[in-house]
Amino acid sequence: MARSVLFVCLGNICRSPSAEGVFRAFAAGAGLKIEADSAGLGRWHLGNPPYGPAIRAAAARGYDLSRQRARQVSGTDFERFDLILGMDDDNVAGLEALRPAGNTTPVRLLLDYAPDTGVREVPDPYYTGDFGTALDLVEAAALGLIDAFRR
Ligand code: 4NP
Repeated sequence: MARSVLFVCLGNICRSPSAEGVFRAFAAGAGLKIEADSAGLGRWHLGNPPYGPAIRAAAARGYDLSRQRARQVSGTDFERFDLILGMDDDNVAGLEALRPAGNTTPVRLLLDYAPDTGVREVPDPYYTGDFGTALDLVEAAALGLIDAFRR
């Protein structure tokens, strides 16, 4: 089973940093040593910390995102990580376009690990303003992902 996971969204300042922070906390709580990182498909926020409202919403639930810095996903990430998870279908399509020839790293939707939510994509709180719903979905998926890593 995968020992490293990369979370990917568009800007790397809302959804994927939240997924990274939540998953790191859950993995630590479960005593699992799994490398986790996040990256964005876009370049707008390179080197910046996550969006302030995302940092504050996560902090209210006990997750520290403040030390993360945005970076852009690249072809080498397909060699570095065992599993790559996009937040929505556009992310997955963007990732597939970056896949190096011959690479077979699984690229899936984060919410494939949260089937009970009945939601496929994490709505972008940068646009919806709903950071609570994004965190609810990310937490559900992080739990499912921990289960998958345990199996
Ligand atoms: P994220 O949200 O993909 O969840 O980080 C976004 C944040 C910023 C932008 C797009 C998406 N942007 O275009 O600046």
